[in-house]
Amino acid sequence: MTTKNILVTGGAGFIGSNFINYILSRRDDYVIVNLDKLTYAGNLENLKPSEGKKNYHFVKGDITNNELVDYLFKKHSIKYVINFAAESHVDRSILGSEIFYKTNVLGTAILLEAARRYEVEKFLQISTDEVYGSLGSTGLFTELTPISPNSPYSSSKAAADLAALSFYHTYGLPVVVTRCSNNYGPLQFPEKLIPLMIINAIGNKKLPVYGDGLNVRDWIYVIDHNKAAELVFDKGLPGEVYNIGASREMTNIEIIKLILSKLGKGEELIHYVKDRPGHDRRYAIDSSKIRNQLGWLPEFKFEDAMNNTINWYLANRIWWERIISGVYQKYYNEQYNNR
Ligand code: NAD
Ligand code: DAU
Repeated sequence: MTTKNILVTGGAGFIGSNFINYILSRRDDYVIVNLDKLTYAGNLENLKPSEGKKNYHFVKGDITNNELVDYLFKKHSIKYVINFAAESHVDRSILGSEIFYKTNVLGTAILLEAARRYEVEKFLQISTDEVYGSLGSTGLFTELTPISPNSPYSSSKAAADLAALSFYHTYGLPVVVTRCSNNYGPLQFPEKLIPLMIINAIGNKKLPVYGDGLNVRDWIYVIDHNKAAELVFDKGLPGEVYNIGASREMTNIEIIKLILSKLGKGEELIHYVKDRPGHDRRYAIDSSKIRNQLGWLPEFKFEDAMNNTINWYLANRIWWERIISGVYQKYYNEQYNNR
């Protein structure tokens, strides 16, 4: 069996840990070295299903550490990279942007340079639909929509995305880029809309809705995203960008009311608060390229996947209680007390 030695970065976060657990449950041909700094968002508990596997190695470290990155490429004969590592939360980028530019831009550049030195055979950059900016009430983001990010987070991701593509054009590095819409599912850190609302509703706490609650996001279950990422990693053409989305647009208030009704809670918990500065109005993805060219299709029905997600948070209180009782509390107070 030929194996692929893959450096996966940010694999202790929400999407990366779901990716590693999913991949290692069914593939022996991938050897994964997971490089993660274990920021507030990284959690080794997420990787319990993969721990102890012969083809899985964890390294605590920073993608901006040039020496460490170089050492890992050499030590593990890395020929493939999947870059999930990022500061990922828009609200935090509004509180302070520096770490976003450091990790997301400089970190990606350091990985790209190492990939070039070690003649990597595929570099998958996990980008986001937020690089396109915001839509009005009609239209969809295609891969040809101009890049026009609006937040420090999305501008840092856009810079990383374009840096990756520039390494294809300039050096012929076999880079592929995915731009996915909003994910939800198990193991998502409870600063993001869906887990935050589930946890607050379980605890009968107020549900903070930004602005008028009519901003639209296009939701995809994390496993569907990861199946698409695996497909792009295996079959995506170098230099190409692939949008990923499940065509499930919802306003925030619709999502929140759905969560309340599934948990049997009343709408009196809904609490309208000051809007997010620069809040993008609507995201919606045209994913026909990955569907037509690579044969991807989302498999999970929104209703079923939302039930799975809510049930997961109900069954895994210990996981999120540990988070919300720790340093997260300081961020939560800062974010919501004066809104
Ligand atoms: P997350 O915040 O849950 O996880 C990020 C992980 O990266 C954490 O484990 C963290 O410890 C690690 N990390 C942060 N800085 C690092 C550094 N300097 N060096 C090494 N590791 C570091 O994020 P997520 O929601 O899982 O997102 C993963 C990727 O997917 C990100 O690149 C994000 O931009 C992208 N993305 C996310 C979504 C979404 O809806 N969550 C949608 C599209 C794209
Ligand atoms: O579109 C992909 C992006 O989706 C990813 O690149 C980001 O990493 C990810 O964080 C996510 O960004 P959003 O800003 O869309 O996600 P968030 O969960 O923070 O917010 C979703 C919507 O809900 C947004 O319109 C803001 C609103 N919101 C969010 C929070 C946390 C609220 O109304 N109240 C809240 O408390």
